[in-house]
Amino acid sequence: MGWQDYWEHDSSVYVSRRHKAAHYNRLADDLLDFATRTDVPLRRQNIMDFGCGEALSADRIASEVGRLILSDGSSRVSEQLQARFGAVANITVPKPGPLDEVADGSLDLIVVNSVLQYVEAAAAGPLFESLAIKLAPSGQMLVADVLPPDLGALTDARELLKFAAAEGFLVAAVVGLRAERLPRNLGHNPYRLAFVVRPSKSRV
Ligand SMILES: C[S@@+](CC[C@H](N)C(=O)[O-])C[C@H]1O[C@@H](n2cnc3c(N)ncnc32)[C@H](O)[C@@H]1O
Repeated sequence: MGWQDYWEHDSSVYVSRRHKAAHYNRLADDLLDFATRTDVPLRRQNIMDFGCGEALSADRIASEVGRLILSDGSSRVSEQLQARFGAVANITVPKPGPLDEVADGSLDLIVVNSVLQYVEAAAAGPLFESLAIKLAPSGQMLVADVLPPDLGALTDARELLKFAAAEGFLVAAVVGLRAERLPRNLGHNPYRLAFVVRPSKSRV
């Protein structure tokens, strides 16, 4: 079964509705915290949450930013998002598939949280490329909740840093982006990794 079949079914990992709500609440806090520290005022930012899942706190994010695009590759998830947030004026839910509805160069921030582990290695480069095209020249991508290859073996901080550098380099090498590891992950799992990815100067 590929990722698409998997996410077309209700594959919830949450022990309760409260747990799920707390998860999305925390993600919203962390996303807003990150977005607040960038150069573009929050109110003017166009943000896309890619592979957003149920995005239960999206209305709270939307109330603080310019526009919020909730993109998910699963049609089941997208239909739920449309039903829940379709009436919020500054939330858009594009159809799953190529992001034709999102103008190239239009986004200040793309968040990709807890998605990369479902993307096959060969598909990661093309995926990043298709997302990077959507970024404004000063835009950035926040790629978080990335699993280290073997969490248990990477207990030594220097090893972890080496891996992070290699991972950042890999992304950069594939699509001409710069990646930098952030000191902490988004959400509740501090053992997963977060990166900020920006177009390299030669692209802009
Ligand atoms: C673990 S959930 C993460 C949801 C949310 N970002 C979070 O952090 O809670 C992964 C989501 O990514 C979506 N997804 C996985 N691979 C994708 C891809 N290649 N393109 C678009 N969406 C994808 C799935 O449909 C699913 O909703």
